[in-house]
Amino acid sequence: MDILVKPAVLPRLTSGQVERRLGTCPRLPSLACINNVLRELLDAEQCFTSQVADVIRRDPSMTTRLLRLVNSVYYGLSTPVSSIEEAVFYLGVRQIRRLAMVTPIIEDLEKLAGRTKFPWREFWRHCIATGIMTRETLGDVQPGSDEVDYVAGLLHDVGKIVMVAAFPEYFEQLQAGLQDEKADLLALEVETLGIDHCELGALYLSAHKLPAVAIQSVRFHHHPSGAGAEARIVAAVQVADLFVRYARIGHSGNPAPVSAETWMAAEGWDQLFPDAGEERLIARANMERSLERLSTILEGLV
Ligand SMILES: [Fe+2]
Ligand SMILES: [Fe+2]
Repeated sequence: MDILVKPAVLPRLTSGQVERRLGTCPRLPSLACINNVLRELLDAEQCFTSQVADVIRRDPSMTTRLLRLVNSVYYGLSTPVSSIEEAVFYLGVRQIRRLAMVTPIIEDLEKLAGRTKFPWREFWRHCIATGIMTRETLGDVQPGSDEVDYVAGLLHDVGKIVMVAAFPEYFEQLQAGLQDEKADLLALEVETLGIDHCELGALYLSAHKLPAVAIQSVRFHHHPSGAGAEARIVAAVQVADLFVRYARIGHSGNPAPVSAETWMAAEGWDQLFPDAGEERLIARANMERSLERLSTILEGLV
């Protein structure tokens, strides 16, 4: 008679245990195809700051490591650097080359550990698309802001990358629990690991001195009204995140489907357009109109 052995359930961690392990978190891994493009570019005889920034802009892990480095090298700047292009300019090609050389590759980590495959390329598309749509949504509200909004959107789910880098066995267990479409991701993360991807990502970014707007976007992207001074940008991130999931672009790692109604009922709309009038309708129509262009842009990026 065959005896089925159920895999042992990992013990949920205390906040102290989470913080200790976060302190030894390995470098955030990047996607192979993006790292290859970046290395080729950096090896070329001539490369321009804007070209390097364009590649890094496609990678939430690399963006996090870049901003971490620039803000630790230039610690004490009155405003921390939150623009990718500015960070590349400050650090210079040689430092960026060093950063790219020690980049772990997410697909290799999975292969080495013999883990179930997670669709990382699709996840990267989710992050980039959220960054682009955050910009577009906010462009309707506050034209002319710098790259901060894109970065806030790009990094919003960085907690999931932190989870796979620092707590791989928990990430694996979580994926098994998410087979059920009705599973509530945030509740399951807390039940499994003791902390959700929002808080985990925010703890990581604040330990690495990233700008407040990035930290708040990561911490509050599911509940933007808690984001205080940054609530407007974080509201745009929430609206963009739900829109990208509703439009089924990429894969967010959350299997729960998002309907048009869920997207339209997002609390972020109230922060963006408090009087629920025509402006809100125009913004939604603009987002729907961007869909086709967004898919084409993503095709060329990842
Ligand atoms: Fe999320
Ligand atoms: Fe997301």
